[in-house]
Amino acid sequence: MQSPGPLDLGPRVRILLCTMAKDTLTVTDNRTGRTYEIPIEHGAIRARDLVQIRLNPDGGGLASYDPAFMNTASCRSRITYIDGDAGVLLYRGYPIEQLAERSTFLETAYLLVKGELPSALRLAQWTHNITTHTIVHENIKGFMEGFRYDAHPMGMLVATVGALSTFYPDAKLIHDPESCRTQTHRLIAKMPTLAAFAYRHAAGMPYAYPDNDLSYTGNFLSMMFKTTELKYRPNPVLERALDVLFILHADHEQNCSTNAMRSIGSSQVDPYSALAGACAALYGPLHGGANEAVLRMLREIGSVARIPDYLARVKAGEVRLMGFGHRVYKNFDPRGKIIKQLAHEVFALTGKNPLTDIAVELERIALEDDYFVSRKLYPNVDFYSGIIYQAMGFPIDMFPVLFAIPRTAGWIAQWLEMVQDDEQKIARPKQIYLGRERRDYVPVESRPARPDRRRDSTGRTSSLGWPTWPTTACWCWLNRPSPPRWMLHVGRRTSRAPR
Ligand code: CMC
Repeated sequence: MQSPGPLDLGPRVRILLCTMAKDTLTVTDNRTGRTYEIPIEHGAIRARDLVQIRLNPDGGGLASYDPAFMNTASCRSRITYIDGDAGVLLYRGYPIEQLAERSTFLETAYLLVKGELPSALRLAQWTHNITTHTIVHENIKGFMEGFRYDAHPMGMLVATVGALSTFYPDAKLIHDPESCRTQTHRLIAKMPTLAAFAYRHAAGMPYAYPDNDLSYTGNFLSMMFKTTELKYRPNPVLERALDVLFILHADHEQNCSTNAMRSIGSSQVDPYSALAGACAALYGPLHGGANEAVLRMLREIGSVARIPDYLARVKAGEVRLMGFGHRVYKNFDPRGKIIKQLAHEVFALTGKNPLTDIAVELERIALEDDYFVSRKLYPNVDFYSGIIYQAMGFPIDMFPVLFAIPRTAGWIAQWLEMVQDDEQKIARPKQIYLGRERRDYVPVESRPARPDRRRDSTGRTSSLGWPTWPTTACWCWLNRPSPPRWMLHVGRRTSRAPR
């Protein structure tokens, strides 16, 4: 409902305006004086419609320039809806708060992938299909053995999920519904197994095989923490808390990693390869790696007394306040609210994470500070999730992996939607070229001793020039000959103790 504006000219004029109103945009190109009428659909114009706007018939059409996709829709989707100003997140229309309270992760994954909540029978079939795909080929274990003892588990996950494509060549049949169904079950089922194996590799512990009697999260906790007991029994509070965290992380429309999944998938590569790329995008500290970065930041701050100093560094632009800010949420992140509540339930069992006091005080001070208020920076999903994960016993470098497991459901749902969307083609953005004009190759003996440092049209130096002495020193250090063998053992453990 539109409320009347300050200048209300009465019902007659309103009717006249309504009959004149059209879902189009009229644009005048001031270079030529020509006017164009462009349709508006779903609050957007098609960028392709700008192509007709050109200086002369042979010239290129007008393009839109939008680094980082700040205002560009790349697809039409029916999966996840976010209202960033109102703090609303819906999966297939269902509010995240209701799903977190009443659903399970596997049911939510079904909802995302299939579009509707399952009947009891369908849910049982889906659960069975996922549960019976949790095992991985033994060669995967051998593959993982190849990583160094201190390999980051997210790096291992990226590589291993990509390697799965070599085990399932049928995944190339991306237009075959049966193949897509099977890869969906495999991916959702195997991610926890790969994640737990990556952890146990770093911990120097034997890999624990899946236990199909347990729930999705119960089995994951078993593969992570089972030691010598015959049967691992997950604590129901932690099992449920992890399930809720997985629901909250399951999808988030066109974020960096989902865009990677769609973009890579648009080349018609198999879903394992596309998902490896999505995982890699998630690994970054501005995205799914933020939960790990938050914990490291809280440790660095170390005490409530040092918060003002740290915030001063944030405001000076030296560091970012990790776990704060979001491209879409400009009021609050509804997932953050649920996580805060969940933290109390987990801490009642595990005891409070000592970093909680720093986090709570940091949030309080930041939310009163004009720097954060004026930029609409609020705690996001990653601000408190790491504190819970740590209280549950997960090591810090597993946090991005804990994001990747549930996000797999969203990535697959988005990938399937993309594969079935007739409008989609191979992703290929345009660029605005600002480099040198055509020039002829110059043989090395004819080039000047010091390269030309002329600036390009952006004002940037387009040639590296001769290295200055610090650069040369860095280059020499990086390219130094291998150190003697004895040096490799100094200060370095050969394996990590189990933890
Ligand atoms: N700390 C300090 N300043 C910030 C922060 C922050 N965390 N986030 C944004 N700003 C400032 C930024 O410096 C800029 O200020 P100015 O206008 O003076 O240049 C302004 O706010 C706008 O920032 P932006 O980088 O243009 O915003 P963006 O929409 O491109 O970035 C973001 C979004 C999430 C990458 C960013 O807020 C950030 O780096 N946050 C910290 C990392 C983080 O917590 N990431 C997890 C996001 S939620 C999980 C997920 O879905 O990935």
